[in-house]
Formats: sequence, C-alpha cells, structure tokens
Amino acid sequence: MSKRIAVLTGGGDCPGINAVIRAVTKKAILEYGMEVIGIEDGYDGIINEHHRKLTYDDVSGILTLGGTILGASKVANPYRYPTESKGKVDFKDVSHLARGNLEKLKLDGLVCIGGDGTLGIAHDLYKDGVPLVGVPKTIDNDIRGTDVSFGFDSAVWIAAEGIDRIHTTAQSHHRIMIVEVMGHKAGWIALHSGVAGGGDVILIPEIPYDIDKVAQKVEERHRRRRSFTIIVVAEGARPRGGGVVVQRMVKESADPVRLGGVGFVVGERLEQITGFETRTTVMGHLQRGGSPTPYDRVLATELGTRAVDMVAERAFGQMVAVKGNSLVSVSLDIVAQGPKLVPRDHRLLRSAIGVGTYFGD
Ligand code: F6P
Repeated sequence: MSKRIAVLTGGGDCPGINAVIRAVTKKAILEYGMEVIGIEDGYDGIINEHHRKLTYDDVSGILTLGGTILGASKVANPYRYPTESKGKVDFKDVSHLARGNLEKLKLDGLVCIGGDGTLGIAHDLYKDGVPLVGVPKTIDNDIRGTDVSFGFDSAVWIAAEGIDRIHTTAQSHHRIMIVEVMGHKAGWIALHSGVAGGGDVILIPEIPYDIDKVAQKVEERHRRRRSFTIIVVAEGARPRGGGVVVQRMVKESADPVRLGGVGFVVGERLEQITGFETRTTVMGHLQRGGSPTPYDRVLATELGTRAVDMVAERAFGQMVAVKGNSLVSVSLDIVAQGPKLVPRDHRLLRSAIGVGTYFGD
C-alpha cells in the first residue's frame, strides 16, 4: 500500500511557502509514490477536518507564487484553541480532537511548515505521538537551530529595494528618512537590509538605542555636509530602559502582541531634538508578499524535498535545517529555547560598524 503524508502551513505567510508545498508534493509523488494531503489554514484544518488531496498538477506552476495555496492561521493552536461563546473568547485544549482527526487520515507523516509558533506546536503534537517533521519558515530569520529560513532573503530584498527608493527622495529634500522593517524580537531584516541599502543608522531589538546619541549622529552627518540621514528601524527596537511600541493586541493569537510604529516615535523625537524635517515609512506586510527571490526558491525546494526524505526515514520530531553549506536535521525542541537573536559579535554587525553604520548605543 502506498504511503500517505500531509502538509500544512502555519503562522504568518511568506514568499517561498508554495515552493516548499510544491517540493514536498512532487518529491513525495515522484520518488516515493506517496499520496499527499494538503491541510487547509494550518492547524485549523486538522481541528475542523478541512483538507484536500494534492496532485502533481495542483502544485505545478506555484514555484514563484507568493502566499500559500493552503491558507495559514496564526490563531489555530490545538492546545489553546479560541472558542467564542456569548461574545467572550475562551481557550480550549482540543489536541485530542486534532490527534483523532489525524488518525482518521492514516498518515505516515505530517510536514509542518512554520515559524517558532507553528513548530513549537508541532513539537508538542510530536510528543503526543503524531509522526511529523518541521520546515523552518519566517521572514524574521529568528528560528533557532537553522542558519537561515526561507522567506528571509525575499523580505530583505523587498526592504532593501524600499530603502534604495527612500534614499533618492531623502537626498533631494535633505531629510531624515526612517524606514521601519519587520523583526519583533530579532533584528536580522533590519541588519541585512540596512547594510544592503546603505543605512546610516540601524536600530535593532538586540541593541537598545539612546535617542540623544542617534540625534548627535545625525547632526554630525549634517556638519559633514551629508544633508540627509537614512535610519532603518526594526519594529521591535526599543530605547535603553524603555519598551517596544505596541500597535495592537490580537487576543486570540498564541503570540498576541503586534508591534508597529516605533519608526514614528523615533522620527518625532529626532525632529524635536535636531530640528531636521523627518519622514517615516513602514514597510509592513509588503515584506511578506509577492514572489520569492531565486535564493528562496532554491532553499524552499531543498528544504521541502529533504523533509520528505525525513518522513521516509521516520526521522520524526526533527526539523530540516541549514548549517553552513549542508542540510541537517535538528530536534524540534530547539525551537522552544527561544528566538535566534543577532549576537553582539556578529560578523555583519562588525562589518557595518566598520563602514561607519551606527547602531544607536
Ligand atoms: O513573524 C513574522 C511577522 O511578519 C513579524 O515580523 C511581524 O511582527 C508579525 O509577523 C506580523 O504579524 P501579523 O501578520 O499578524 O500582522
């Protein structure tokens, strides 16, 4: 009897998810003769039994397509499932229901594509007996255990493109221009896009900033006849001794805090201190949209095909990961150890400082 696997995509979407779905499905069908089921809207599709068979034709032509053909959910957690009664949201453990529904599907393995939230849940399901493997996905690049996750390169590319465009208008108007990028706990996108876009100041969550020192840096640039300044700010950047800027709370979500707006806070203060005209642009969800870069298409294809091998090898409870030039598998429990942050001695941080970029400390 042929084997049957399922694939789901959880958490926020990002460029390259469809490339992974395609890789998983094609490899499973072509090399192992497996049947593939696509679970819809992340763990929600397990709980509510929304799934469909994925054929070779279903995944043809989606390599370059943004988003996820399966849909995703950031709130569907089987261990903390939001249920509404009398206008009030309560959280219930429906993991027994999820496991029962998975048993009905008679799966030989489940491939969970997701970030820290989705992979953390996957780890719990694995400990409860579900045979599964993980594929690391996030634009933030903050999943521990892998050097890189797919989606990151695309997000950096989009953010850098935005910074380039801001550069020309900054120059024309002699302004301080602030570009806020994603990255709630880790500053990888800000660091990479800031370096790629020639940002003068980069503010990341790992290095609390001192606004007076940032203002001094801007004034110093102006004294040197650089009449504009580009500042790249990660949404999770915070002042020394202060907190992050919260845009809204999504109480049904496993990760309820949505950040956003630090760029405006920083901009307003700098305008007050320096007197220079300031504008802020928030890149927001643009960074998660559209077609993946060639690098992400390649990475997604490698991760997806390797995940199928891991199911065939019954290497469950593991995540496919990148270490140097190799693909390896690491235990999913590594994800629970917290986000992968930018270390103070990181090579790129040192290079950026070497070319005069200021990190606000
Ligand atoms: O984790 C990916 C991410 O894009 C973060 O960078 C950002 O803080 C968050 O998701 C935004 O979430 P939402 O899609 O709920 O607005």
